[in-house]
Amino acid sequence: MVVGTQWGDEGKGKFTDLLARDMDMVVRYQGGHNAGHTLVVEGQTFKLQLVPSGVLYPHVTPMIGNGVVIDPRVLLDEVDRLSAAGVDCGRLKISGNAHLILPYHQTLDVVAERHLGRNKLGTTKRGIGPAYADKAARVGLRVQDLLDPKIFREKLGVVLHEKNPLLAKVYNRLPFDIETLANQYLEECRPRLEAHIADTVGLVHDALEGGQNVLFEGAQAMFLDLDHGTYPFVTSSNPVAGGVCVGAGVGPRHIDRVIGVTKAYISRVGSGPFPCELTDEIGDHLVDVGREYGTNTKRRRRCGWLDTVMLRHAVRVNSLSDLAITKLDVLDALDPIKVCVAYEVDGERRDSMPYHQSEIHRAVPIYEELPGWCTDLSGVGDRAALPREAEDYLRFIEEQAGVPASLVGVGPGRDQFISFSPVS
Ligand code: IMP
Repeated sequence: MVVGTQWGDEGKGKFTDLLARDMDMVVRYQGGHNAGHTLVVEGQTFKLQLVPSGVLYPHVTPMIGNGVVIDPRVLLDEVDRLSAAGVDCGRLKISGNAHLILPYHQTLDVVAERHLGRNKLGTTKRGIGPAYADKAARVGLRVQDLLDPKIFREKLGVVLHEKNPLLAKVYNRLPFDIETLANQYLEECRPRLEAHIADTVGLVHDALEGGQNVLFEGAQAMFLDLDHGTYPFVTSSNPVAGGVCVGAGVGPRHIDRVIGVTKAYISRVGSGPFPCELTDEIGDHLVDVGREYGTNTKRRRRCGWLDTVMLRHAVRVNSLSDLAITKLDVLDALDPIKVCVAYEVDGERRDSMPYHQSEIHRAVPIYEELPGWCTDLSGVGDRAALPREAEDYLRFIEEQAGVPASLVGVGPGRDQFISFSPVS
């Protein structure tokens, strides 16, 4: 499986795409269209939000697992865009147990953020949190409900009985009409989705039992995890490796490799603590050279030096077997390069992640400086051709993390990477 080790936007899509080449199935297990996975293939850029990255290979079955929240209109738009670009989405399978994001979820996300004012979470305003909240409250509608119009209307009635007064009385918004909404989804979305709805858990196990290769594609990342991230500045799902067991219905013994995607520096979009954030010209340089603007929301990402305190924590929580380091080329012009190796909290050195949120807010990074390589890496395709300083930088990350790097990205293109060990 592929997971993000930071706050998302590590470039997971690129390596998922690369690994998907040798897979039979690629499965998304959490999140929704808050994700934005960018793939550049033969000069053509694909921005995927819900459809798993493996869709670009005709031999791969792309699958959306039960742990994902799906806005059906967004999914169908994405399918249309992919089809227009010549990508066949006929093989896409969608779990009947996945929950639906409906328009009131999105409205609630927007108004709740507005209500929080300067304390806002900085969500993507896609309705992700409200949809997962309904799932936990057991009032969510699932993909399979689209197949039963009577149930769909009944469930919508139950949930709108609560949501409409909340929207109208607390947030001064117009209520949603059950019939209009039900007709829209049952008439527009159901006929197009029906053929894709499947027992994805059964299909994953059939594939595993048949000796096929299955790749689980994480969205967001470790520090946006609802349980392990910088709560409340997190998403509402579990992107950590353990999330795959719940979100795709596979036990931990089926996972034999966990690749942690780590950007050579770090970024965060939205609110929340960020010990290594750079608000100076180096931060601006990382934003400009790294094109650090949200794939979906176009928001400018906050950037900083690599934080290995976070990385070590991600190695533990996700049982990472190896790292895929992305965007090494973005550091090409920087000299020296700093890496955070520990924090100072209230005058004390801390080598591991403080568990108390306010300590993370107060943490001051302790950096080590490494020489830059001041060379264009974008054309380097093999480890031996790396400048010594770049090799030293990668080794330093490996030492700090305690796990090896197996892949290193040196540009956005599908072929711009260096393999440190055979991709298997
Ligand atoms: P939500 O997932 O829209 O509820 O947003 C919660 C937090 O997660 C916000 O800080 C978002 O900016 C962040 N977030 C959600 N999805 C992504 C992503 O794919 N990349 C980076 N940040 C994300």
